[in-house]
Amino acid sequence: MKVKELRATFLSFMEEKGHVIVPSSPLVPENDPTTLFTGSGMQPMLPYLLGQPHPSGKRVADSQKAFRSQDIEEVGDNRHTTFFEMIGNWSFGDYFKEEQITWMWDFLVSKLKLDPENFYLTCFIGNDSLGVPRDTYSAELWQAFFKKKGIDVGIGENPEKDGIRTINGVRDHIFYYSEKKNWWSRTGAPANMPIGEPGGPDTEMFYDFHPELGRSCIPNTPFSGEFCHVNCDCGRFVEIGNNVFMQYKKTAQGFEELPQMNVDHGSGLERICAAVNDDGDVFNIDIFENAKKTIENLSGKAYTGEAQYAFRVILDHIRAATFLISDGVLPGNKDQSYFVRRLIRRAVRFARNLDIHTNFCAEVADSFIQVYKDEYTNLETNKDVILGEITKEEEKFRKTLENGMKEFEKAIIEIHKSVNGETKEIIRHLSGRIAFDLLQSYGFPIELTEELAKERNIIVDREEFEKHKKEHSDQSRTASAGKFKGGLGGDGEMEVKFHTATHLLHQALREVLGEHVLQKGSNITPERLRFDFSHDAKMTDEEKKKVENLINSKIAADLPVTREEVSFEEAKARGAIGLFEDKYSDVVSIYRIGEGTKRGDSNLYSIEFCGGPHVERLGVLGTFKIQKEEAVSAGVRRIKAVLI
Ligand code: SER
Repeated sequence: MKVKELRATFLSFMEEKGHVIVPSSPLVPENDPTTLFTGSGMQPMLPYLLGQPHPSGKRVADSQKAFRSQDIEEVGDNRHTTFFEMIGNWSFGDYFKEEQITWMWDFLVSKLKLDPENFYLTCFIGNDSLGVPRDTYSAELWQAFFKKKGIDVGIGENPEKDGIRTINGVRDHIFYYSEKKNWWSRTGAPANMPIGEPGGPDTEMFYDFHPELGRSCIPNTPFSGEFCHVNCDCGRFVEIGNNVFMQYKKTAQGFEELPQMNVDHGSGLERICAAVNDDGDVFNIDIFENAKKTIENLSGKAYTGEAQYAFRVILDHIRAATFLISDGVLPGNKDQSYFVRRLIRRAVRFARNLDIHTNFCAEVADSFIQVYKDEYTNLETNKDVILGEITKEEEKFRKTLENGMKEFEKAIIEIHKSVNGETKEIIRHLSGRIAFDLLQSYGFPIELTEELAKERNIIVDREEFEKHKKEHSDQSRTASAGKFKGGLGGDGEMEVKFHTATHLLHQALREVLGEHVLQKGSNITPERLRFDFSHDAKMTDEEKKKVENLINSKIAADLPVTREEVSFEEAKARGAIGLFEDKYSDVVSIYRIGEGTKRGDSNLYSIEFCGGPHVERLGVLGTFKIQKEEAVSAGVRRIKAVLI
């Protein structure tokens, strides 16, 4: 089966079940300070899971582009990719477990003809201290579906210890796990959730790719999994999808039920495709074929044996970089941009293992553009930028790569630990100072240096590296680990205020600087807003003052903020502006500031496409102040502003 066909099959299946199909959101979330990237289908759905009505109703489905930066170094095995498409469906307080599980069985087993013998499920075991009971309902419903097919399956209680049992010929296919595995929120297990964050128990779906396909837990071998179970890391079982029963919200005391019971289902499109083809290597599905051939031609090597690892890194990383750039993230030193840089540099580094020493990334990127351009039209529209940026970054890195590698090899020191003059242990070590020089002079991200070191059994002094980096204060900040620890601070009240202030700023800039100003990006934390917009000159002090005064006069007038759901056509006709037009579906939600209904009405200040949330009246915002105005890239400026 091909990915294209599978995507269409899922969407029409869900459409038949009453879902409205909505387009994918961009890979960079708007107004979500908790994360740098859209890493799952549910992120753009957050306001609707929390109770705000979705403009398309209570049932929606999509195929969402996702990027999981934390998986960069996992790539190379049979199943991990940083970029993937998540096919998903949502019930916003509509249907619940019965429908979801029934449809998943129908879709995977009846429609796609996955062999139920290879199909495994996990459910939440329950936890009294969280006040969340065991999900026997889901476990028994799955079991009943196997039974209908004439297959008796058992439910395992203790898979991490018992492995997969077969008792009197009945094999376990369903397992209970704790909240470490069967709980989902954007920030993981219950203990890691900030107050206000929604989450819930889930039931996960796995496919058994069989040990004979080369995974490590092979029965009757030293690896044999007495304890091999579906969540084992050996790669035999691959998680293909996840149904989250998003019904709780974290409070200071524990959990409370959300006003509505939601379903959040997301499955890996590529992984399901691999399962349907019963091939445990996700890189063997059709969408990689074109790019694989390109790499084979460039390297003269085939996708087999040891070469597979490097092939997979290149395939994954260049595909991810292609999609990220098409959504406006250019390679650079900060935040999202830093990941695009790392992806490209890592691909170039691994290409050396395939003896590719000249520019190749753009050719691979173009192979992906050809494959995806019908579904993701902005790949074709932005093709020149994508290929240009990738090549620029590749060239920049290539200039210093060979020298950096030499420097790296030279700088390794061996420390001999000896007892009574006899060497007992040799520790290979790389100083933090050198790691920092590699970054400064050769553009080696520290993760790259650490990876090279790991391959050679060398320890890098990370602490010393960090010290040097800190000292060098003009060095751009890397995407710090702290960024991911976030969560909706408190109840998100400040973020909501900044979100409304962002609309005011957008409009004020258009009035002061001109109609060419359009939003290019936005990021909000509880402390400040950040707004990128198209404009090619530094703002004068006078212009900044004008913008502030304009915004503060609207706040003083305490204008109302109103949400409306209208057709896309009507929103356009009424002059609504918005960042990513192609993400919107037929019915859209818009926010108006002021009494009027359309752009041009004297008593309307702003009208924008937006999912919200916003304050109800401007009076609560306080005083708006610009802290900084700077360039981000050619033709794009950035403002940081606060409310005091
Ligand atoms: N949010 C869940 C996940 O990402 C299901 O969509 O796994």
